[in-house]
Amino acid sequence: MVKAVRIHKPGGPEAMVYEDVDLAPPGAGEARIVHKAIGINFIDVYHRTGLYPLAAYPGVIGMEGAGLVEAIGAGVTEVKAGDRVAYASPPPGAYAEARNLKAAALVKLPAEIPFENAAGMMLQGMTVEYLLRRTYQVKAGETILIHAAAGGVGLILCQWAKHLGATVIGTVSSEAKAELARAHGCHHSIIYTKENFVERVKEITNGKLLPVVYDSIGKDTLMKSMECLRTRGLLVSFGQASGKLENFDTASLAPRSLYMTRPGLFNYIATRAELEESANALFDVVRTGKVKIDIHHKYALKDVRQAHIELESRKTTGGHILVP
Ligand SMILES: NC(=O)c1ccc[n+]([C@@H]2O[C@H](COP(=O)([O-])OP(=O)(O)OC[C@H]3O[C@@H](n4cnc5c(N)ncnc54)[C@H](OP(=O)(O)O)[C@@H]3O)[C@@H](O)[C@H]2O)c1
Repeated sequence: MVKAVRIHKPGGPEAMVYEDVDLAPPGAGEARIVHKAIGINFIDVYHRTGLYPLAAYPGVIGMEGAGLVEAIGAGVTEVKAGDRVAYASPPPGAYAEARNLKAAALVKLPAEIPFENAAGMMLQGMTVEYLLRRTYQVKAGETILIHAAAGGVGLILCQWAKHLGATVIGTVSSEAKAELARAHGCHHSIIYTKENFVERVKEITNGKLLPVVYDSIGKDTLMKSMECLRTRGLLVSFGQASGKLENFDTASLAPRSLYMTRPGLFNYIATRAELEESANALFDVVRTGKVKIDIHHKYALKDVRQAHIELESRKTTGGHILVP
């Protein structure tokens, strides 16, 4: 038995129940990880509410963790007992003291990266890696727009994009968040709850508009994000923190021949080679200090309800983790 957080049916924070669950020995191709820290991500909210249904109920949620390999199943070659590892991977199941996971999803953690930083950076950091380097290749001298610039993904995006030589415009909901984003490489902050971000982007770019916008807010911002793009620009819709935009009409892309993509991390780290390349690129920028991982919120695993309440009410900044 291990302590874990399970959803018996989708719902609010109260749907998460901290309880004992059975844990079988690792199966063929699997490793058992004893978590030292667990990442909290917005996708966990989508799993909890049922926006992304679980395969079966009750089920443990959570997509990211770091810890020690305790045992391996038949045929595992990637890791061995005692290895320090981290992961961001389906299926959900990370909100637990220990779990089994396919060993091919685990990466060995460099000695200088602490477990808590790893648990707070794998999912968000590899997301930033593919967004800036593969969904669109951000080049020095380009200006880009990112929303929720002081969030978990946001602070990493600001730093990594600045490191690539881009000028970063970031939206946030408060002055305190604006200050934080600026301290992490955001050149122009916009308080989108008060200011018209489309007009501000026009001003900042002298009407030239942008080659790419990274939108993780969805319903509240997506159509306006499109207005910030220049001819043949790319709208990257990679999340929906404010809810899903229903009835999107592709004809709205037509006036400026825009492109749009709805990418997800797990399609960008689908092979072992892609996973290793993405993780190593992340480890490099972290080890060299180009990207600092800020874990601003740390909760005991049993206090997970509070963690979700704060994440959903826009109270958090930077990374968030659970500690078993
Ligand atoms: N597709 C992918 O591969 C992928 C991977 C990782 C994350 N994501 C997405 O990236 C986004 C950020 O994830 P995260 O874990 O780093 O979370 P986060 O940015 O730390 O938190 C979400 C932020 O969204 C903003 N927001 C705007 N409207 C909101 C609303 N109605 N309710 C709640 N928040 C709202 C808030 O910032 P302000 O207060 O500044 O507005 C809030 O702090 C999420 O949409 C997530 O789904 C996508």
